[in-house]
Amino acid sequence: MSHLTPFEWNERYVLHETPWDSGVPSKELMRVLDGEKIHPCRTAELGCGTGTNSIYLASRGFNVTGLDCSSVALSQARTKAAEAGADVQFLEADLCRFNLELEPFDFIFDRGCYHSVRRIDVAGFLKTLRKLSRPGTRYLVLTGNANEEGPGPPRVHEHEIRIDLEGLFEIQFIREFRFEVTDPPEGFLAWSCLMTRRSQ
Ligand SMILES: C[S@@+](CC[C@H](N)C(=O)[O-])C[C@H]1O[C@@H](n2cnc3c(N)ncnc32)[C@H](O)[C@@H]1O
Repeated sequence: MSHLTPFEWNERYVLHETPWDSGVPSKELMRVLDGEKIHPCRTAELGCGTGTNSIYLASRGFNVTGLDCSSVALSQARTKAAEAGADVQFLEADLCRFNLELEPFDFIFDRGCYHSVRRIDVAGFLKTLRKLSRPGTRYLVLTGNANEEGPGPPRVHEHEIRIDLEGLFEIQFIREFRFEVTDPPEGFLAWSCLMTRRSQ
């Protein structure tokens, strides 16, 4: 799953081979919004998939742009947003080779995108993060956790998160939680990492 091309991501969505697509908003996202007092603001979701969390953020008053390389996922996201009456902008983009002109965001949310793209082109992804953020932007990344072995999402060690992201962001916390998945009861072990963009 970790080295998929946009075409292969599309295939996963067409075939419904999408165990991450729980259909319910992320509880960890809710905990962080409430616990860290992240209020409605200009927000990007990286790798938004079928838009569940973008739509949830919009329902709380966030001004949301969902970005994904899969046209199939985005088409499902637009349908879901229309059904929910949610005002979300969904845009197709490769986050390793980003060429859209967008103003920087105040808050960036990422559930399961970083842990895939870092294995393909971490430098390209960092360049995109730099473009989409400004000093003070907060970035919440939810990623697979290498403290547990087995099937599931790509897994990352804490020190890898630090190596990849600490140059651009100051880490506020890294903590463990479990992903919601389509096949409960117990989701895969994950990291939740909240960061703030540095001034340089
Ligand atoms: C594991 S899924 C998570 C989807 C969604 N965040 C969720 O929680 O349901 C990863 C998502 O990242 C997207 N993605 C993967 N590589 C990408 C890239 N280079 N640029 C943009 N999106 C990408 C995939 O299409 C997929 O929708």
